[in-house]
Amino acid sequence: MNIIVVKNEQELAQKAYDIIANMIEQKPNGVLGCATGGSPVGIYELMRKNKPNTSGITTVNLDEYINLDFANPKSYHYYMNEELFAHLPFKANYLPNGMKENAEEACADYEKVLEAHPVDLQLLGIGENAHIAFNEPGTSFESTTHVIELTESTRQANRRYFEREEDVPTHAITMGIKSIMRAKSIVLVASGEKKADAIKAMIEGEITEECPASILQKHNDVTIVVDEAAFSKCEKSKLDVVMA
Ligand code: GLP
Repeated sequence: MNIIVVKNEQELAQKAYDIIANMIEQKPNGVLGCATGGSPVGIYELMRKNKPNTSGITTVNLDEYINLDFANPKSYHYYMNEELFAHLPFKANYLPNGMKENAEEACADYEKVLEAHPVDLQLLGIGENAHIAFNEPGTSFESTTHVIELTESTRQANRRYFEREEDVPTHAITMGIKSIMRAKSIVLVASGEKKADAIKAMIEGEITEECPASILQKHNDVTIVVDEAAFSKCEKSKLDVVMA
């Protein structure tokens, strides 16, 4: 794992943006794996500002809620449109279809999309319980795209985006751990003290399905970009860290 520790969210966005812009330059017809949530917002802002040439780039997103209409501002379709797709030209944009009546079929469809578009660079955030995409603790490392019931802690963490507690979806379609690990390279971003336990477990803990992000220790091209607060529980001396 390459670990880059930055001072604040602005630097974090810049570092991650540089990695993405470099991939786009190297592979103008490449596939970018996109993430949602608060963590990538600054990165997408830089993309809107700097406008790298994305016209040949295909995007695939990690996940989508089940039964949340795409026109719903809380859906990840809506988020991606607002943050990125409406602002830059892409070759194609894919997200799992959480509105399909048969969710299992939607998962199989999405695996086909991923097979046809192998990811060159996958952007990831991390949940407070070390979930990646919506792969909650206990998810099999062999999982491909599947339906998942969100844990109470993830629903609480995402509560801030919804008006009422009962509006927070209970299920989602997510790329599986195996689907994510197929990406040629991965960049994971995290900021704030709330993520410190997850970051420590991911980098220094044992590789276990109880800590989904720990599987990234096995990937041969992962860059972790974290701010000092998210990195604060790691034992820095043990690590090969770049202080940005
Ligand atoms: C959600 C998303 C994840 C994201 C995580 C952290 O559960 N499905 O892809 O990484 O939240 O979100 P945030 O960046 O808002 O802290």
